[in-house]
Amino acid sequence: MEKFTYQYPVKQYFGKGCAEEALKKEMPDMGNVVMLAYGGGSLKRTGLYDKIRGWLENAGKTVVDFGGIMPNPTYDKVQEGAEVVRKEGVDFILAVGGGSVIDCCKIISAQAKTDEDVWNMFYNEHRLPTEFVPCGAVVTASGTGAEQNNGAVITHEEKKIKGGMVGAHNDFAMLDPMYTMTVPFRQVIYGAFDTISHAMETYFGKPQENNLSDDISEAVMRSVIANIRVLLTDPENYNARSELMWSSAMAENGILKIGKVTDFQCHQMEHQLGAYTDCNHGAGLAVLHPALYRHICEAGAAKFARFARNVWGIEEKATELETAQAGVAALADFIKEIGLPASFTEMGIDPNTDFKAVADSTNITAGCCKKLTHEEILEIFNECR
Ligand code: NZQ
Ligand code: ZN
Repeated sequence: MEKFTYQYPVKQYFGKGCAEEALKKEMPDMGNVVMLAYGGGSLKRTGLYDKIRGWLENAGKTVVDFGGIMPNPTYDKVQEGAEVVRKEGVDFILAVGGGSVIDCCKIISAQAKTDEDVWNMFYNEHRLPTEFVPCGAVVTASGTGAEQNNGAVITHEEKKIKGGMVGAHNDFAMLDPMYTMTVPFRQVIYGAFDTISHAMETYFGKPQENNLSDDISEAVMRSVIANIRVLLTDPENYNARSELMWSSAMAENGILKIGKVTDFQCHQMEHQLGAYTDCNHGAGLAVLHPALYRHICEAGAAKFARFARNVWGIEEKATELETAQAGVAALADFIKEIGLPASFTEMGIDPNTDFKAVADSTNITAGCCKKLTHEEILEIFNECR
């Protein structure tokens, strides 16, 4: 096992009605002015906005409204939010939404506390913000696990980079599976696939020897696969939705990553695809993963064969490589089975996208069995068209 330090700062509230209970319990310890941050309109349509605003006001808080956080949140939106926080003297940021709203708020929290440009601080000076406005998150769409960690993915439109940044940890997260019932079904499956991707990108990272983190990853992957299948025939199944929500949290709360060097090459590719096309995160991952794994599975045949056996229940083939390839084929078949796209065309991506520019601007990671070149990344993008 690799050397590690593990500390977990995010208090978890999970289950039906947990947000009201959590806010009642936690808000008395927070400052008076609360920014209620949300996305493009679903929160008001579902009636949750009025409920949450009411719970905050009942706790004696002055609520500052900050809506319109878009999927693939932009750095401009971060700046707009930080300005509101400063101007209104916000003491606490409550993010209510999926990964986009939660990520945007984690960086707003950091930017509001400094006059330095946090993108410049992170990317050019390689320093991390140290002060944050306290935050909490109500998860309304699960999959990213964004509520669990202090990483955030922000699109800098001018620079054409969708990149990871480090912001605030939430003081507490509220995960009520009932809130996911109104999420468009396709988005539910995109989110669940994102969770599988997080587990895979960790599992295929080093070390490859047997370790407890990989055993837990396999359990998370099997659970997500089984529960997606439940939802395909019974979309409102509460138990399946709660299992998916907790799997999403498990994949990003650090436990699967203990003692591992994570890879996240597929995420790096998808993020840059997002920077150029504003595509859906889970959909992009679904198209890219099988193509990427077909490229690297020979280099990591033993681990891919283990993935085939333990996640997909595949019988041993004549050679280890054949077993490994059967695991990648099972993943591709599953993506089709659950109705996710198998090509950029199916995703509606403009065929004239400059894929060379996307490939050349993709970060290359080295956590997995094979370090790719930009030329190989372009080959993979071309195979996905
Ligand atoms: O904006 P509204 O109108 O609220 O609609 C949203 C949005 O259109 C809708 N939605 C959310 N909750 C709903 C709902 N609609 C009805 N009922 C509800 N209860 O869902 C749509 C998608 O929301 P979004 O937050 O964009 O999706 P997701 O949770 O998949 O987040 C994607 C973002 O997270 C980043 C991705 O790159 C992407 O930017 N990620 C963040 C990670 C992290 N911080 O750890 C890890 C991930 O790998 C990922 O990169
Ligand atoms: Zn993801």
